[in-house]
Amino acid sequence: MADTTQKATTDFTKGIAASTLADGGLILGRVGDDEVVLARSGDELFAVRAQCSHYRGPLADGLVVGDTVRCPWHHACFSLRTGEALRAPALDPIPCWRVDREGDTIFVREKLPARSAPGLDSRGLPSSIVIVGGGAAGVAAAEMIRRRGYGGPVTLISADADPPVDRPNLSKDYLAGEAQEDWIPLWPTDFYAEQRIDLVLGRRVSSIDPAKRIVRLEDGSERAYGALLLATGADPVRLPIPGAQDDRVRYLRSFADSRAIVERAATARHVVVAGASFIGLEVAASLRARGIAVDVVAPESTPLERVLGADVGRFVRSLHEKQGVVFHMGETVARIDGRTVTLSGGAAIDCDFVVMGVGVKPSVAIAEQAGLTMDRGIQVDEYLETSAPGVFAAGDAARWPDPHTGERIRVEHWVVAERQGQTAARNMLGARERFEAVPFFWSRHYDATINYAGHAERWDEVSIDGSLEALDCTVEYRRGGKTLAVATIGRDRANLDAEARMERALARR
Ligand SMILES: Cc1cc2nc3c(=O)[nH]c(=O)nc-3n(C[C@H](O)[C@H](O)[C@H](O)COP(=O)(O)OP(=O)(O)OC[C@H]3O[C@@H](n4cnc5c(N)ncnc54)[C@H](O)[C@@H]3O)c2cc1C
Ligand code: FES
Repeated sequence: MADTTQKATTDFTKGIAASTLADGGLILGRVGDDEVVLARSGDELFAVRAQCSHYRGPLADGLVVGDTVRCPWHHACFSLRTGEALRAPALDPIPCWRVDREGDTIFVREKLPARSAPGLDSRGLPSSIVIVGGGAAGVAAAEMIRRRGYGGPVTLISADADPPVDRPNLSKDYLAGEAQEDWIPLWPTDFYAEQRIDLVLGRRVSSIDPAKRIVRLEDGSERAYGALLLATGADPVRLPIPGAQDDRVRYLRSFADSRAIVERAATARHVVVAGASFIGLEVAASLRARGIAVDVVAPESTPLERVLGADVGRFVRSLHEKQGVVFHMGETVARIDGRTVTLSGGAAIDCDFVVMGVGVKPSVAIAEQAGLTMDRGIQVDEYLETSAPGVFAAGDAARWPDPHTGERIRVEHWVVAERQGQTAARNMLGARERFEAVPFFWSRHYDATINYAGHAERWDEVSIDGSLEALDCTVEYRRGGKTLAVATIGRDRANLDAEARMERALARR
C-alpha cells in the first residue's frame, strides 16, 4: 500500500545525528519494544508511535504538515504534540515520547502521559444531543462530543441491529473471509456505556419536530434534544426488476447484510453481481477470493468510468478479469426467475444468488417530512447546519458547499462522513467551524488500492503519470487547468501531497 517501507532498526535511546532528519522528515526507529517515528517540523522535534490507530498504517511513510503527521493509507491526521487523532478515520490517539537534543544528537526518552482534552466552556451548550444514525458520521460525532468534554446526555439511535461497524470492511476482508467477526464493530459495546452514550439499536426515528425539538421513534416513544445530528446515511437502490424481491437477491449495507451474503456464499458456486459500482466490484473480488464464479452485469460501457475515467475504469476491469470475473457491460438484469438471471440482451445466467450493487440514495425521509430544505440530499451550510437551527446533518445524506470546487456536493465516502460527524459535533458544542476537508476515499481491488483525494464530477483533462499496470501511478483530473482530484495507485505519499496542496490552495484564496 505504501511507496516505501522503512525498517525500525535505529535505537533512538542511543541518539541519532540531527543532520539525518530534514525539516518535514520522518525516521522510523525503536524505543525499547516500541516502534516509534521521529518527526521534524521546522526546528521542533517530535516522537510518536509508528503505527496509525486506524489499521496500523506506517506513519513513517506519511506526511508532516505543520505540527501534524498524516497516515499514508487513509489520511488520518494526528497531532505530533499530543498524539490526538485530529481527523478521521483514526479516532483513537497514539502515544508520544519526549525528545531531547544534545548538540548535534537527538535522543528519544520516556513515553509521555496521555493528555486529556482542554475543558469545555459550558456556556451555551445544548441541554442534550441526539444523533440519528449509527454509521460513520454518527459514531464519529458521538466520540468527538465526549472527547471535547461535553457532559450532558448523548443518545445515538440506529436502525441497525448491530452496534456501529467498520462498514468498508463489509465488502472487503470480512466478505472475503479474511477478517474475524470481532474486527468489525468500531468499538466494544462497553465503550458506549463508559462514554455515557445511550446506544439505541434496531429502532428507527420516524419523525422530527424541529419546533418542539423532539424526535419520535417508530414505537411511539419520543426523545427531546437540544441539538440534533441527522446522520442517516444512504440506502441501496432497489430496482423494480421482476423477481428482484426473491430471497436470492441480496443488498449490502449493514453487517447483517454482509453476514447474510457470507452465509449464502458458503454453499454457492456462482453469483451474479448487478452493478459495476465500487461496492459491486469489491463484492466480486471478495467472492472470487472464496473461489466462487462471478458475473458482473452493468449498463455502462466501462466500470467506474464516471468517477475515475475510462483508462482507470478499463484497468480495474482488467484486474477483475485476470481473477476470472466475467463482465456483461452494456447490459442490465431484465428478470430473475429462481436460479436464472436473464439479461437485457437475452442471455441467461444460472447462479445461486444475485448481489445488487446498483448504487445508493440518501436516506432523507425524516428530514423531508420535517420540512428541512432539501437539495438531492439534506442541504447544509458550511457549518453543516440544516435550515432548522440546532439541527445538523453529516455523511452520505448531506449536501454541503465544498469550498474546493465551489459547488454543493454530496459524496459517499467513509472518511468524509466521519470528518463531517466530527465537525458537526464541534459545531453543536459552539465551535462555528467550517467544513473544509478535501474529500478522500479509497477502494481496494485485489492488490491494487486506489486512493482518491478531491472531487471531480466533470473534467476536461486527465493525465496519468507512471503505469497503471505496474500499480504505480498518479492520475490527475483537471478542469480549466485546475486540479480537482488526484487518484493514485501504489503512491500513497503522492496522494497525501495532493491533499495538502489542495488545502494550501484553499488557504491562499
Ligand atoms: C459495503 C460497503 C463498503 C464501503 N467501502 C467504502 C470504502 O472502501 N471507502 C469509502 O470511502 N467508503 C466506503 N463505503 C461508503 C461508506 O461506508 C459510507 O460513505 C459511510 O458509511 C457513510 O456514513 P454515514 O454515517 O453517512 O451513513 P451510514 O454509515 O450508512 O450510517 C447510517 C446510519 O443511519 C441509520 N439510520 C438511517 N435512517 C434511520 C432512521 N430513520 N432512524 C434511525 N437510524 C437510521 C442506519 O441504520 C445507519 O446506522 C462503503 C459502503 C458500504 C456499504
Ligand atoms: S491505517 Fe491510517 S488512516 Fe487507515
